[in-house]
Amino acid sequence: MDKTRFICQNCGYVSFKWQGRCPACGKWDSFQEEIVRKGTFSPLRQTFKETVPLPITEVKEYEQRRYSTRVEEFDRILGGGVVPGSLVLIGGEPGIGKSTLLMEIGNKLSSSNCSVLYVSGEESAEQSKLRASRLKVNSPHFYILPETNLNQITLQIMNLKPRIVIIDSIQTLYREDYNSAPGSVSQIRECTAYLMGLAKRERITIFLIGHVTKEGAIAGPRVLEHIVDTVLYFESGKDYQYRILRVVKNRFGPCSEIGIFSMEEDGLKEVTNPSKLFLKNSLEDTSGTAIVSTIEGSRSFLVEIQALVSPSNLAIPRRITQGVDYNRLCLLLAVLEKQGKLRLYDQDVYVNVAGGVRVREPACDLGIALAIASSYKEQTFPKNTIAIGEIGLSGDIRPVGVIDKRIKEASKLGFNRCILPQSLIKKSKISSKMEFIGVREIREAIKLLRRE
Ligand code: TYD
Ligand code: MG
Repeated sequence: MDKTRFICQNCGYVSFKWQGRCPACGKWDSFQEEIVRKGTFSPLRQTFKETVPLPITEVKEYEQRRYSTRVEEFDRILGGGVVPGSLVLIGGEPGIGKSTLLMEIGNKLSSSNCSVLYVSGEESAEQSKLRASRLKVNSPHFYILPETNLNQITLQIMNLKPRIVIIDSIQTLYREDYNSAPGSVSQIRECTAYLMGLAKRERITIFLIGHVTKEGAIAGPRVLEHIVDTVLYFESGKDYQYRILRVVKNRFGPCSEIGIFSMEEDGLKEVTNPSKLFLKNSLEDTSGTAIVSTIEGSRSFLVEIQALVSPSNLAIPRRITQGVDYNRLCLLLAVLEKQGKLRLYDQDVYVNVAGGVRVREPACDLGIALAIASSYKEQTFPKNTIAIGEIGLSGDIRPVGVIDKRIKEASKLGFNRCILPQSLIKKSKISSKMEFIGVREIREAIKLLRRE
């Protein structure tokens, strides 16, 4: 018998009667009717197997023989390669390079004993071929299937028995037993849940491509994140040549890694030395810039913070940030004003991180504050120097973690001076050529800036 239910298009809440307002997310008029037709979806009937509780000591360890994609950046963010039987979601705005990346990875993974099926719901086989020629995809074990019906896709998967399946994109798939349109919350959720079962049962690794809407969520609500094993998001905007792939969730590896790629004429190329990329003009002496060291996952790299402070003619001065959290900037401005004795309340402040990367760590506070002070006072940040330190509300410079790694990376790139919290000086074991300048509070740090 057919069943009628109502799904909130904002959060995915399921109700058996229509409601004006969603009890879960509070959104008005978000319920959409859906009829579930029994018996129309039967690619593979799941056999019922009884599961019994087992003592943990008797549970067999999951054999994690991973496949390497031969793209180091990608292997690293997955935690050392692709895990068989996992479901990986890759999100990003349209045109950022999701199809490009997965086609390249698919090509590298495909071999005589590991075939790859690329299910293209958005492009015809000929259109995919155009991209494939551009990327020099030449493996005979790389298959293209232009299809959006999950029933058909499953049958083809069972025929071909590929080790890797790429679905481009999850928003185009549909199951026949749900009458809602492809891309609606229930279609996306049901298709993903089904593919998860398939991946686990058949030990196939499935990559799902998901478009991210303007609000930054996959398919509106983030309904998929809890179903899949791994979630990767392309972070930076399309205006930059660089693409940052960030791990948001990973059941089989670290979840703070980022991978950096650059979009070239013939596909996405991995960037192995990110510091060089974000520091192009760092050696010139200009006011309003500071170099900070940030840690992303297992890697440390340097980024340039740029600030511009100029007198405002608005009643409420502007504070505009790119790559830095807005609230963090407001906090730092308040500390600079009160503890650093800088008069910023009638100044517009713009802060930007060069290269389009985002810095999230409090360890970058000192660098951001010094860039702002440097622009305000028209004094330059010392040459070949990096700044590390978190700023407390009382203006004190607080210690941060993983200091040795940061210093090592800076000295590798030719930096020979480091402004850091006083309390870290003794702890730092690195006896490199680096000169350490310890600071206890923000005023002391500002004094290190030099007149041009
Ligand atoms: P695409 O992978 O189609 O994006 P998505 O699947 O995320 O929507 O990438 C599209 C963009 O990448 C497009 O603007 C063209 C550009 N591009 C290159 O610069 N080089 C290439 O080799 C390819 C295939 C695409
Ligand atoms: Mg695409």
